[in-house]
Amino acid sequence: MSKKQDEVVETTEAQIAVHWKEEDYYYPSTKFIAQANLTDEGIFDRFSLDNFPDYYTEFAELLTWYKYWDEVLDSSDAPCYKWFKGGKLNASYNCIDRHLKDNKNKTAIHFVPELEEENVQHITYQELYVRVNEFAALLRDTAKLKRGDRVTIHMPMSAELPITMLACARLGVIHSVVFGGFSASASADRIVDSQSRVLIVTDAYYRAGKLLNHKFNADEAVQIAEEQGQTVDTVLVWQRYPGKYSSDTPMVEGRDIFVNEKLKDYYGARVEPEQMLSEDPLFLMYTSGTTGKPKGCQHGTGGYLAYVTAMSKYIQDIHPEDVYWCMADIGWITGHSFIVYGPLALCASSVIFEGVPTYPDAGRSWRIAQELDVNIFHTAPTAIRALRKLGPDEPAKYNYHFKHMTTVGEPIEPAVWKWYESAVGKGEAIIVDTYWQTETGGFLCSTVPGLNPMKPGSAGPGVPGIHPIIYDDEGHEVEKPGIAGNICIQNPWPGMFQTIWGDRDRFVDTYFGMYNTKPDSKDWKDWPYLTGDAATMSEDGYYRVLGRIDDVINVSGHRLGTKEIESASLVVEEVAEAAVVPVNHEIKGKEPDLYIALKPGIDATDELAAKISEAVCEQIGKIARPRKVWLVPDMPKTRSGKIMRRVLGAISNKGDVGNVMTLANPEVVEEIKNMVEK
Ligand code: WTA
Repeated sequence: MSKKQDEVVETTEAQIAVHWKEEDYYYPSTKFIAQANLTDEGIFDRFSLDNFPDYYTEFAELLTWYKYWDEVLDSSDAPCYKWFKGGKLNASYNCIDRHLKDNKNKTAIHFVPELEEENVQHITYQELYVRVNEFAALLRDTAKLKRGDRVTIHMPMSAELPITMLACARLGVIHSVVFGGFSASASADRIVDSQSRVLIVTDAYYRAGKLLNHKFNADEAVQIAEEQGQTVDTVLVWQRYPGKYSSDTPMVEGRDIFVNEKLKDYYGARVEPEQMLSEDPLFLMYTSGTTGKPKGCQHGTGGYLAYVTAMSKYIQDIHPEDVYWCMADIGWITGHSFIVYGPLALCASSVIFEGVPTYPDAGRSWRIAQELDVNIFHTAPTAIRALRKLGPDEPAKYNYHFKHMTTVGEPIEPAVWKWYESAVGKGEAIIVDTYWQTETGGFLCSTVPGLNPMKPGSAGPGVPGIHPIIYDDEGHEVEKPGIAGNICIQNPWPGMFQTIWGDRDRFVDTYFGMYNTKPDSKDWKDWPYLTGDAATMSEDGYYRVLGRIDDVINVSGHRLGTKEIESASLVVEEVAEAAVVPVNHEIKGKEPDLYIALKPGIDATDELAAKISEAVCEQIGKIARPRKVWLVPDMPKTRSGKIMRRVLGAISNKGDVGNVMTLANPEVVEEIKNMVEK
C-alpha cells in the first residue's frame, strides 16, 4: 500500500505543515466542572477496548427506541458494520416528538437572518413538530417519496433546511444535502450518484448583503443530471419570503412547486414516524476524496444518532437550558451533527445564522451572541482567524458570556487558539479542539471538557470509546512521541459511516486497504480505519493533527480534492495538463494553486488563466477558486512521466524544491520558480 500511496501522492499537507512547539496546559474552571455533563473519570476505564463494543450501549440509551437492539455490533460483513442491529427508532421522533411532553414551548431553532433589520425567528419544538409533519405529508403525497428513496437538498442556511431534513427522516427518506455555495454542476453530480428524482431548493438567500438567486442552480442541475441519465421530475422550491418569489428564474410547469403555497393543502396534517431499523441509512453526505468523483458517505440511523447525541452531551456539554450556536453550514457534516441532529436530540436551542460572520462588520457574531444569550459557541479556525484579523477588540464590546467553545475542521495555531480563549472566550470558556471527518459522523479526538486539561494546538486524546493508533507506512505502530505517522482508529464506532453509497469496494479500499492484511476477516480487530491524516502523539497521549496524507486540500475547513479541481480545469479546451497544490494562507489555512500546461501552439494569456479559474468555480463552487492559475511552459516530471506535485508545492510555498536533477526536465523548475517568485 505504501507504494500505492507514493504513486498518487507527491506532496502532502503534512510535508509542508507548520509544526509548532508543545504548549502548556489550560485547566477548566471549577465553575465549569461543577455543571459539566461528564466528570466521571471512570469513563475511560469503562470505555477501554476490553469492554468493546458493549460500552456503546451507554450512547444508545440516550435515545428513545421503539424496539431495543438484538446485538450491539454485527461485524459479519466487516468492515461494513451494523450498530444496534435489529433496534427500531426514528430520528425525527427523537429530535422532536419526544420533547413535546415537557418542552413544547421551548425554542428549538433560533433563525437569524443576515439582514439585521429582519427579526430573529424563534421556532418552538411544537412549531417544529407542526412544520415537519406538514412538510412530511407534502413529501409523501405530492412528491411521492417513500422510505428508502433518496432526495437531493440544495439549500442555504435557513430554518427550512432542518425542517426538510427532519421531514425526510420522519418518512425514512434518505436525504443528501449539498452545500448551498456549491455549483449546479456539483448538485447535479450528487443527484445522479444518489439517483434522486426530487430536488429541494430555496429561491434565494442573503450572503454578504446581497440577495442571491439560488433557483437558477436548480434548473441547471436538473438539466445536467438529465444529460447524465437521471431525471428529476419534481423540484420543490421554498421561498425566502413566504408568499413572494425572490428569483427571476421562471418556474417550470409540471415540475416546480412552491412549497409555501402547496403546504396550505396539508394544514394540520400529521405523519406517523416510520419505525426505521437502526442500520437503515439516514443520510448521504458527499465529500472529496483522492479521485475526481466525490464519495457519498452513507450514515446509518441508530448508530449515527446515538453517537452525535452522546458527543453533543459529553463533549459539547449541551444542557437543555443552553443556547448553542454552531456557526458551520448545515451543508457540511458539522452542521448535520452539531446544528441539527445532536443538539435537537438533546432538546437544546440551536442557532442557525444565514449570513457571513464578518458582515456587515466584525462585531456581527458577537451581537448575535449578546442578543440570544448564546453560551456555547462552535466554529472553525478559518473564521476565528478572520474575526481576529478584522476585529481583534470587537468581542469585548459586547455583553455575552460563553462557557464552552469548539474549534473544528483544521489544525489551529496556538496563537489563534490563545486569542480565541482570551478575547472571544473572555478567559471564561473552556475550548475543545475536535478532530473528526465527514466519514466519522462525530468526534475522534478531543479533550473531555470537564476531565482533561486543554493544550493549544493539540486536539487531545481519543474521545471515550475511540482508540487511535499511529502507524508508519509499513504498518508498524509509531510508539515514540512526536514522530509523525498515519493516524488510524483501531475499533469501529457507531457514528462511523456504513459505506460509500453504491461503492463498497471503494469504501473498503480507501479506508481499510492500507492496513488490513486479512480481507476475509470478520473480526473488527483486523480492520483499522485509515483517516487519511498525518498526526503525532505526545507523551500525554494528546494527538496533534498535521494534515492530509492524500490529495485533499482543506480550504477554510472545506475539503476539496486536488483531482476534483484538476479535472474541472481540464474541461477548458486549451488545457493539456493540470496540477493542484496546497498553499499556506493566513486566514483560510490552505488555498489551491493551479498549475496548467497548455496544448501546443496556444498562447498563455491572462484571459485564458481567468477562464480556467472561472471553469473551476462553475463546476465546483467559488470556494474552489484557485489562488492563482500559473500557465507554465511544462510540468516538472519524473522520467516515467509523473507530474512532480511536491516540487510545485515547494515553489508555491516558497520552500526548498530539493534535488531536482533526476527529473526528466529539471530546467523547467527554475523557469517556474522565476515565474512564481516574481
Ligand atoms: C481536518 C470536518 C486538525 C482533517 C469535521 C480531517 C482537523 C478533515 C480537525 C475532515 C482538527 C478536522 N484539527 N485537523 N480539529 N478537524 N480536521 O470531512 O484533515 O470536512 O481529515 O470534516 O479536516 O474534514 P471534513
